[in-house]
Amino acid sequence: MNTYRATDDVHVLNDCAEIPGLGALPVNAFLLHAEQPLLVDTGMGVAREDFVSSLSELIDLADLRWIWLTHPDRDHTGALLSLLAAAPQAKLVTTFAAAGYLGTDMQLPMPQVHLLNPGQSLDLGDRTVTAFRPPAFDSPMTVGFKDDSTGYLFSSDCFGAPMPSRDTAGAADVGDVGDEDLRAAQLLWLSVDSPWLSMVSRSTFASVVDDVRRFEPSMVFSSHLPPASKPDRLFDNLVDAAGCTPFVGPDQEALMALMAEIGGIPEQAAPAEVAPA
Ligand SMILES: [Fe+2]
Ligand SMILES: [Fe+2]
Repeated sequence: MNTYRATDDVHVLNDCAEIPGLGALPVNAFLLHAEQPLLVDTGMGVAREDFVSSLSELIDLADLRWIWLTHPDRDHTGALLSLLAAAPQAKLVTTFAAAGYLGTDMQLPMPQVHLLNPGQSLDLGDRTVTAFRPPAFDSPMTVGFKDDSTGYLFSSDCFGAPMPSRDTAGAADVGDVGDEDLRAAQLLWLSVDSPWLSMVSRSTFASVVDDVRRFEPSMVFSSHLPPASKPDRLFDNLVDAAGCTPFVGPDQEALMALMAEIGGIPEQAAPAEVAPA
């Protein structure tokens, strides 16, 4: 886990998923150092222990007050239950539908659940944050938020883009990525994560994107992009995804060709012989 401070009051817990053919996808969670500290998402399931120990180096878990789950995908819920147990003061901020969905996989401690819908605000002591539904998403339960005092926008999967390398995926600002490269990477991600955009008219989608652009965010913190201190171009690229062609991954034939190229699929161990009864 790569952790760094993006602003005076935001730490990034940055992980990375390397996806063949796509690139290095950042997987970010964020710690907002408000008067009542708030964690945004809880990392990937495969990195659960690393996530908890990395977060513990940034804050005493006894002081954590809120865990904002942007949506219940497994790259966001990894350490959720561990943290609710280790941070008894913390409440899980989520929606009715997401809490119900999570219940198919885990036993949530309901006294620690706080339901909040898009349009509603949460008081963190020194600031409020207001929930909104990002224009692009892969889960209907997705809820991002804006920090009403600083202008930070926490956008969940929206504005994601695979980066060319782990190093770039772990960069403290996406500003070093060129305009064309960023546009191509955003459009690729949107074709994977929000394939329904193929059915959406540009004018309809542009007006939805404009509703969020009017927040005039000072920073965009996406789960799958390095932080963006100059977010204007992110919005332009997002609008261009309306009517996109949905991503289609490699099929079995392509996978076998790829594996042959890199040295073949390891032989599976023969099943153990069972002695006759
Ligand atoms: Fe997702
Ligand atoms: Fe995600």
